[in-house]
Amino acid sequence: MLFVGIDLGTSAVKLLLMNEKGEIQKIASREYPLYFPRPGWSEQNPTDWYDKTIDGLKELLSDCDKSQVAGISFGGQMHGLVVLDERDQVIRPAILWNDGRSEKQVEYLNQQIGKDKISQYTANIAFAGFTAPKILWMREEEPENFARIHRIMLPKDYLAYRLSGSFVTDVSDASGMLLMDVKNRCWSKEMLSLCGIIEDQLPELHESYEVVGALLPKVAAELGLDHKVKVIAGAGDNAAAAVGTGTVGDGACNISLGTSGTLFISNHKFGVDPNNALHSFAHADGHYHLMGCMLSAASCNKWWMDEILRDSDYVGVQKDIDKLGENHVYFLPYLMGERSPHNDPLARGAFVGMSMDTTRADMVQSIFEGVAFGLRDSLEVARQLEIPLTSTRICGGGAKSPLWCKMIANILNLKVERIAVEEGPALGAAMLAAVGCGVFPSVEEAAQAIVRVVDVIQPKPDLVEKYQDRYQTFRQLYPALKEIYRQI
Ligand code: XUL
Repeated sequence: MLFVGIDLGTSAVKLLLMNEKGEIQKIASREYPLYFPRPGWSEQNPTDWYDKTIDGLKELLSDCDKSQVAGISFGGQMHGLVVLDERDQVIRPAILWNDGRSEKQVEYLNQQIGKDKISQYTANIAFAGFTAPKILWMREEEPENFARIHRIMLPKDYLAYRLSGSFVTDVSDASGMLLMDVKNRCWSKEMLSLCGIIEDQLPELHESYEVVGALLPKVAAELGLDHKVKVIAGAGDNAAAAVGTGTVGDGACNISLGTSGTLFISNHKFGVDPNNALHSFAHADGHYHLMGCMLSAASCNKWWMDEILRDSDYVGVQKDIDKLGENHVYFLPYLMGERSPHNDPLARGAFVGMSMDTTRADMVQSIFEGVAFGLRDSLEVARQLEIPLTSTRICGGGAKSPLWCKMIANILNLKVERIAVEEGPALGAAMLAAVGCGVFPSVEEAAQAIVRVVDVIQPKPDLVEKYQDRYQTFRQLYPALKEIYRQI
């Protein structure tokens, strides 16, 4: 049997074909545009996602025995607002997870309704990227569009809908809508009423490994597949990545260094950070997790390389970095505002501390370090909650850099484990498909059978100490600049 995992990312869709032993048969990807129509806004066209996915699937399946394909599942960028009208037409471009336009609506939910109530309904507070504030934004700013909404869905659920006709989502991704009662894994009536929507407009909730339908005959015909190929609910990309790196069960940790940067901690039991600095979401393994999310991680490096240095030699530019723990330049990675832990859509990037002897290598190094310090901010919250973490898995484009992984190990003082497959969310999605098709009895057992660690990076005490000092300086920078961000 063969399983397809589709990771609907922000810069590209990555597709992976896996057999029932967990061996990767083929990988394909397709890019699509990302639009920033105003500062702090971030949008994509759902039809681009679908067209590129179909195109990528054709390449992925071009040389396999198609009769062996048994299931398809997804990992997807979280929180995005996709709205369809009565005729299933997309009403407006999707508003993405890193879009900061709903600051006023976040303020309304957190201050007027109150953080306590919102947290009681959903286990979380409002953040600009979450789906509910964006629905409120649409209601206020685009009332004609709001009135046409027939269906509300998340990015990967749009793919499932077009592939299978099933209007469904899964509990891990739905947790990030701020419309779900995470503890009880059902929609929150209070939140729906606050947003002026009804349950019929929302997809049916499923566990990530559940079968939700089969391919529509016309889609199956286009791909040359049997129309009995099962479609499995899938997960938000972070939960899918956690499955793909074996971050399941109790107390395991994963760092994802993609466009966003996340620190993900899996838990058997439901729990909430009393300050709501970490998100409390349902996990794809049937349990729960906590997560801190930085809005710009590997994307800071991409911005620096592509827009500023205009240099495509991502590896070469790291070669001159040799003074770890001694850099006098600091970088604040808030290019799209920041979620965890500051919850500030107005925060922006900054370089601090350059002098005439600052080199290009120092600047690149400061970007890598700034992202790692930002992850450490989330880890500090977890440590305050007395969650005992000593190691983490790592995935995402940034994890390809051994240097970045070394910095993370020493700045967070964690043993960092790299796994055999870099495409965490796509692998996790394929694993969920295999569980849904009955190859493995549970997600945890699938992870035990499939995930392999290939490299371990241990923190070194002298470097940990040097970085401890640097981190103390880093954490003073955002408070010092916070008011300035309001002026600029
Ligand atoms: C998580 C989040 C991001 C996106 C990236 O809360 O917003 O990690 O899922 O795709």
